[in-house]
Amino acid sequence: VAKVKTSFFCQNCGAQYPKWIGQCTSCKQWNTIVEEVIQKEEKPAWKSSATPTSKRAGSPIRLSEITQEKELRLDTQDMEFNRVLGGGLVPGSLTLLGGEPGIGKSTLLLQIALKLPYKTLYVSGEESQKQIKMRADRILPSSENCFILTETKTQNIFQQITSLEPDLVIIDSIQTLHTDYVDSGAGSISQIRECTAELIKFAKETHTPVILVGHITKDGNIAGPKILEHMVDTVLQFEGDRNYVYRILRSLKNRFGSTAELGIYEMQGSGLREVNNPSEVLISKNDENLSGTAIAATVEGMRPLLIEIQALVSSAVYGTPQRSATGFNAKRLNMLLAVLEKRAGFKLGAKDVFLNITGGISVDDPAIDLAVMASILSSNSDIPIEKGVCFAAEVGLAGEIRPVQRVDQRILEAEKLGFSTIYVSKNNKIGLKNPNIQVQLVSKIEDVVSHLF
Ligand code: TYD
Ligand code: MG
Repeated sequence: VAKVKTSFFCQNCGAQYPKWIGQCTSCKQWNTIVEEVIQKEEKPAWKSSATPTSKRAGSPIRLSEITQEKELRLDTQDMEFNRVLGGGLVPGSLTLLGGEPGIGKSTLLLQIALKLPYKTLYVSGEESQKQIKMRADRILPSSENCFILTETKTQNIFQQITSLEPDLVIIDSIQTLHTDYVDSGAGSISQIRECTAELIKFAKETHTPVILVGHITKDGNIAGPKILEHMVDTVLQFEGDRNYVYRILRSLKNRFGSTAELGIYEMQGSGLREVNNPSEVLISKNDENLSGTAIAATVEGMRPLLIEIQALVSSAVYGTPQRSATGFNAKRLNMLLAVLEKRAGFKLGAKDVFLNITGGISVDDPAIDLAVMASILSSNSDIPIEKGVCFAAEVGLAGEIRPVQRVDQRILEAEKLGFSTIYVSKNNKIGLKNPNIQVQLVSKIEDVVSHLF
């Protein structure tokens, strides 16, 4: 009788221990160590058919002797997805897509599978074929290249892959997979690790790109060991507020491109629509001038983006004034309020301040500071900010207006969208020659106040 071999894993970080302990010594979490059976046999699920042909296989090779072929990329037919990947899927790469439940991961990947002119295998361990069909009907009624498999055992999946020979494999989700060579339940650390390792082996040997869906935990990390993120080539995160229609796709790690890129989608009744010109949708088209709103020219990833900030300042009803911010760091809001109080003499200490970035997106670009301040001042005095005015500057603790990165790009975007004035720091080096927009240089918060109100 084979002896059952077990080991202890931290469910939070994936660290392995020979015996149970109360606190994980690597991530310091309590009660996360769980015993898992790791009865590993020699046979891997993806059996490599390739035997080393040349004598050189496996031996070191001079860097200069490695032939550089033109990097091939699989065009996903989705501009936003391609952009975030850095130009499409790299053959043989593993991409992990994480996100909260219900945010639209399955929708996004099914949509890509339906539109692709290549043979795609969509493996689902979460939904039935009927459910997937219903979803597909909402997005695109017919597709000849998309194959659906509802299966969770990797051995069976690889069997189907061998006969179908797809150009792209999508696994929804990695937490539902299990392999025979590990005995613990699906979703456990050792299962996730082993299944991912099998998929990597398959991807690298057949040059087939694989996309995995990964669940995230309450605190926003991808469930499972951190090593899952180390193992794959690219980690994407799909985020947004479920009550709003906009979704943002970011890359947290990318071995083949920049992690600064960003994709924006709008969830519609018929799937996700690519938002190629985000500034236009994120600014409300109000004819009336309302007090308390200001437009900020931010840069998210590599893309300039104009967003609308709304503030409401009112007398506090209760003793302690409330401060709340949606889409903006609350600590930063408190800091800006303190600067207004101390440096510009506004008495906001007894006021409730609510701040909201429209569209349900969150921004951490410091260049929106000035717009945040302007919206607060506008609401406080109940004087609307003139139409066609936008802001791109950081505010320092002394009330000084600080320069921001890529100011030219921001000015150009504001100009493109028909803005007439943009406020930037006096210390910003502007390379643009004669932009068709007035660039208002300011150095102190008082300058802005005297210009605006
Ligand atoms: P889903 O893609 O299943 O999310 P995940 O896989 O990340 O858990 O869910 C997407 C949500 O979007 C779901 O609540 C239904 C909704 N939806 C639309 O609004 N329009 C659509 O065309 C589809 C397919 C889904
Ligand atoms: Mg899903």
